[in-house]
Amino acid sequence: MLTLQAVVLCAIVTTAWCFVDLSFPPGFKFGVASSAYQVEGAWNISDKSESIWDHFSHTHPERIAGAAHGDVACDSYRHWKRDIQMVHELGVHFYRFSISWPRLMPTGFPNYISEDGKQYYNKLIDGLLAKGIQPLVTMYHWDLPQRLQELGGWTNPLVTDWFLDYARTVFSLYGDRVKTWITINEPLVMCEMSYNDGSMAPGIISPEVGTYLCNKHTLLAHAKAWRLYDNEFRHKYHGEISLVNHMFWYEAVMSGEEEITELAQENSAGRYSHPIFSKEGGWPSSIVDALALNSKRQGYPKSNFPSLTKEEIELMKGTYDFYAMNHYTSRQVRKSKGGEKFGSWPINDGPDLDIKLSAHHSWARTAASWFYVNPPGIRKQLVWLRKHYGNLKFIIAENGYPSSGGKHDPDRIAYLHDNLEQILLAIQEDGVNVTAYTVWSLMDNFEWMDGYKTKFGLFEVDFNSPERKRTPRASAHYYRKVIKAHSLDVPRPHYRPEPSSSGINLPSLTLFSTILLIKLF
Ligand SMILES: *[C@@H]1O[C@H](CO)[C@@H](O)[C@H](O)[C@H]1NC(C)=O
Ligand SMILES: *[C@@H]1O[C@H](CO)[C@@H](O)[C@H](O)[C@H]1NC(C)=O
Repeated sequence: MLTLQAVVLCAIVTTAWCFVDLSFPPGFKFGVASSAYQVEGAWNISDKSESIWDHFSHTHPERIAGAAHGDVACDSYRHWKRDIQMVHELGVHFYRFSISWPRLMPTGFPNYISEDGKQYYNKLIDGLLAKGIQPLVTMYHWDLPQRLQELGGWTNPLVTDWFLDYARTVFSLYGDRVKTWITINEPLVMCEMSYNDGSMAPGIISPEVGTYLCNKHTLLAHAKAWRLYDNEFRHKYHGEISLVNHMFWYEAVMSGEEEITELAQENSAGRYSHPIFSKEGGWPSSIVDALALNSKRQGYPKSNFPSLTKEEIELMKGTYDFYAMNHYTSRQVRKSKGGEKFGSWPINDGPDLDIKLSAHHSWARTAASWFYVNPPGIRKQLVWLRKHYGNLKFIIAENGYPSSGGKHDPDRIAYLHDNLEQILLAIQEDGVNVTAYTVWSLMDNFEWMDGYKTKFGLFEVDFNSPERKRTPRASAHYYRKVIKAHSLDVPRPHYRPEPSSSGINLPSLTLFSTILLIKLF
């Protein structure tokens, strides 16, 4: 809300902040997200086969906080009706969830479709639609059938055809009702975290080879699925389809580090976006050069970074209907100095590209070790993407805050508010066409290598109760109000804000402008 003081202040010091219209554009959509392995449980029910996350969590408990696993998780396989009720209570326009490949196609191949698996997603989709909530379906959120992993998983070029068969199955079963599809969730995180240091399933350490094969094959698999939808399903169902990319915002520690910072962006945003979203297609050329040099230094006779044929470049180019971005946090970048230990999550920048990552001291820490709060990062990342790939339609497919628990969650509310404010600035000041926003997550769930330690939920889940009791947090009430008002101009529960250098906070601004007013009059 613009106070009189703020208006006067704006007239004196012109900041972009002054001109935010707190309402969202007409048609702007709000949603909330989850994923199959993180919430469903029922890992061995009926004819479902093992996924790489079932396998990894059972065979490598030491790599997961509390030796946790998703065997039961939120038990959404049983409590899906409650999930729909929660989504409905929030008043969101859409619910983003994922389909488990090994639940639907236990062999990994379309020779056999699980009747129970098929019905589970039918019930979920129909239940949402009955309440007027659109299903936004992720086809792959990291839970590959273990049987396909045994054949090489995402490093085997044939995985692109296996994924294509899976895609045909899900479009055929659910395409009549699902109008927005995500092929693959965060190929960056799944490839880099899996193969760089083995911290995610399948836990194979192959940073010089495996990571890049996974990079190439996830994008090709996405492209084939997009083309299948475009050629055979779009005219019948009129839906949209894209992939979701995860973005860290990278910014230079100081001037002089801009070039290496841009390389860091190309090594994450670029390596997973350029082949699909750029006008010319193919890999970013700065990365091709840097990684070729790197392979040479590592003693390989040629670059380990896989080349693309002309056909592959054409196959991938333009395979999107929108740009979907997951965004949480930022890093500062500079060139590494000799002998330095690298801050690497999730990109193996350090050893590869001589990049040193850090966090600014003013960015508040959170319950997750990798997560620092820097709301302006989301706006700057959107601007970077538009500059590189054009005036696309953007959706924020994930954004949220990790706490260590409790129903009173002012930090999460502040995070959601501040990020939404930055998105409004991107729309109004920078002309970025953001059309939707999604909170991660609907409820606390299995948070990969953090187990159940960090909690992203708008709803708290009691993992000790047999029914996995779900209770709305203060942030759930806040989000509901924002959606209902279609505006950020809603009261927030009273709390003491964290000091922050990354945004102007209203109380200090009000104080400052009051002093100014006293001086003026
Ligand atoms: C399924 O897994 C649970 C452990 O999560 C185990 O107790 C149960 O016996 C298994 N059920 C079947 C049918 O194998
Ligand atoms: C944003 O994208 C939507 C969907 O493609 C389109 O209808 C709308 O006109 C675009 N808005 C702007 C301001 O470009």
